[in-house]
Amino acid sequence: MKEDIVLTISQLSKTYGKKQVLHPVDLKVKRGECVVLCGGNGAGKSTLIKMITGIEKQSTGKFTFKVDNKKKFGFMPDAMDFPGELTAIEVLKYYGKFLNASEDKINELLKRVGLWDVRNQKVGSFSKGMSQRVNLAQTLLADVDVYILDEPTNGLDPYWVIEFKEIIHDLKREGKTILLSSHIMRDVAEISDRVVILFEGAIKEDGSLEEIYARNNCESLEEVFLKLLKLQTNQSVLRKTLEYDAG
Ligand SMILES: Nc1ncnc2c1ncn2[C@@H]1O[C@H](COP(=O)(O)OP(=O)(O)O)[C@@H](O)[C@H]1O
Ligand SMILES: [Mg+2]
Repeated sequence: MKEDIVLTISQLSKTYGKKQVLHPVDLKVKRGECVVLCGGNGAGKSTLIKMITGIEKQSTGKFTFKVDNKKKFGFMPDAMDFPGELTAIEVLKYYGKFLNASEDKINELLKRVGLWDVRNQKVGSFSKGMSQRVNLAQTLLADVDVYILDEPTNGLDPYWVIEFKEIIHDLKREGKTILLSSHIMRDVAEISDRVVILFEGAIKEDGSLEEIYARNNCESLEEVFLKLLKLQTNQSVLRKTLEYDAG
């Protein structure tokens, strides 16, 4: 049977000035799959996400979404600067207008992200974790098949990390496709159907957790990441030694 691919990324790359922050990336995301894009700070996760969400123009390559909805995806950026004077419910109503979201849906989401009791408080007074939950709620207002989330667990306390994972499980049960990024690998490893590890702007691993652990003889993504880091350090020491010997 032919695979149902929702998002196809081909040779997508990004260069800022002389710095290539993303080497040509190929990636296919299947319908109903939850793909977790892992990597350390500066690996290129947000850059990749910004390109496929149309915020940044790619330097090379292309991507295509295969979705029915006119609005392609729900997008949770890594940081949202909501107008501090608005209350949580006002923020969601504002976004809801563009997305044709009903009042019921807004109320349901405020409850789902634990902000119902503070819905009339100004978001300017919210903690990082609370703002992040407003950000998550605005993303889920979009009634779409694909959700793209950049560092969604950033700033969430342990309770809300668990709740967040529940929300992702619910979306998966509804057959939604999810692409999310995280540098906090233990937060998201277990919700993934597939993990893609970005390291210095290149994909170093792509597979299920089990496959990646077996390939690297590791028991956690952190271990895999540290192995990549060590390999890179050894290579750069070797490079420097060779340069020294040559020169
Ligand atoms: N607008 C920009 N101009 C120059 N360099 C940038 C810009 N945005 C990101 N970068 C660089 O690209 C690299 C990847 O950044 P980013 O995609 O934000 O990483 P991640 O999200 O994985 O932490 C970093 O080295 C970062 O400094
Ligand atoms: Mg980022």
